[in-house]
Amino acid sequence: MHPSNAPLPPTLVVIPTYDERETLPGTLARLRTAVPEVDVLVVDDSSPDGTGDWAETVAAEDPAVHVLHRAGKQGLGPAYLAGFAWGLEHGYQQLVEMDADASHRPEQLPGLLEAVRRGADLAIGSRWIPRGAVHDWPVHRLLLSRGANLYVQLLLGLGVADATAGYRVFRAELLEDLIATDIASQGYCFQIDMTRRARDLGAVITEVPIDFDERTAGASKMSSSIVREALLKVTSWGLSRRTQGLRKALG
Ligand code: GDD
Ligand code: MN
Repeated sequence: MHPSNAPLPPTLVVIPTYDERETLPGTLARLRTAVPEVDVLVVDDSSPDGTGDWAETVAAEDPAVHVLHRAGKQGLGPAYLAGFAWGLEHGYQQLVEMDADASHRPEQLPGLLEAVRRGADLAIGSRWIPRGAVHDWPVHRLLLSRGANLYVQLLLGLGVADATAGYRVFRAELLEDLIATDIASQGYCFQIDMTRRARDLGAVITEVPIDFDERTAGASKMSSSIVREALLKVTSWGLSRRTQGLRKALG
């Protein structure tokens, strides 16, 4: 825990992008205004719409903005892992997950940073705790998110209301341990994977209520294969958790 009047420790906001040319400019402008002391790393998977090229023009003018280009769309998980590795190599002490499409309000980042300042190893911007909310999200996404989190709680018992959330602040020490393990999740179950591994490591996980706003441009990359991967992985993690429990009980 560091004193409230201490300057913010070196903090990197990692923003994964795939075809976010219409949304990233607004998000970046809001972030630079809301929390000017953070640095930003855009992790672009060769977006066909030129997101990476646009981000380079910003990085040329703004020393706080960096771009990591990757060859081809490889999934949310690998994008974040590459961004986290870059951030840890460059000495950042706090690393943030944030969507490019302004679904995560940059103005609410201070609340997550405060939770880490107060001692959390992982602060999760949660839609599903009191004062958390989603706005303009289609019903099927609402049901998917609520259903996924209920299933995760039943199978894994993480005690986290929004384990699939993508707005997070990690303390670097925790992230060093997390990315040392083989996180193989491609899609959004990466978020569940990171939560359960943090829990297994005994990390202090704090949920902070956020407002999640449906994007106003571009398209979600959510797909049935991403949902299928999450379902299969959570089920196998849940089954191995039960067999371990059984083995312990049988001695
Ligand atoms: N580099 C890269 N590569 N970025 C990606 C990829 C990829 O393969 N897939 C998605 N992204 C980026 C998007 O460009 C965006 O910045 C962010 O990841 C989230 O993608 P969306 O497609 O906007 O996600 P969503 O709004 O449907 O899903 C939200 O809810 C999920 C589950 O609750 C997001 O907040 C997810 O992070 C969250 O896990
Ligand atoms: Mn989105």
